[in-house]
Amino acid sequence: MRTWEELEQQCLSCTGCGLCETRHNVVFGVGKRDAGVLFVGEGPGEQEDLSGEPFVGPAGKLLDDMLSIVDLDRAQNCYIANIVKCRPPRNRDPLETEQEACIGYLRNQVALIQPKIIVCLGRIAAKKLIDPDFRITRQHGQWFRRGDFWMMATYHPSALLRDVGKRPEAFDDLMSLRAKMRELGVEL
Ligand code: URA
Repeated sequence: MRTWEELEQQCLSCTGCGLCETRHNVVFGVGKRDAGVLFVGEGPGEQEDLSGEPFVGPAGKLLDDMLSIVDLDRAQNCYIANIVKCRPPRNRDPLETEQEACIGYLRNQVALIQPKIIVCLGRIAAKKLIDPDFRITRQHGQWFRRGDFWMMATYHPSALLRDVGKRPEAFDDLMSLRAKMRELGVEL
């Protein structure tokens, strides 16, 4: 198994797919490297590409608010990563080939963090990590046991910015996450 330093170094110089040609920065991930809860988004947007940190744009502000509801903080006690580490042009969905080229980095991050819970932020992450046929409107908030992890998906913060009507459901998902953290004894 790679160390964090080896993994990050390899990721930062990756040329595994075409996204490397248009990126400004690789967005590796941020947070506590032995966190009990890992959040996975889809891929960097413009602000993230420019700063090198995940979820720093408007959706990131909302994500930070969502985290604080369940006593989590990106600097203190959780980890945030994405399925693809480089920005897809014009924020299009990452292609399946790009996701496949990149997923090894996330798998290594998961192996190093060993989280108890993985929360998928939105449809793309849920399809890649939980089930290719995942339906976010129907299955958000449901728990899935996968290997050593408990997994669930909730709405992507960008979707919650576009449609505030979804926020009560996302709040319920967060309450379920908090309950699961207590049940599993996730340390804060
Ligand atoms: N959306 C994502 O899915 N990830 C980010 O890092 C930022 C926006």
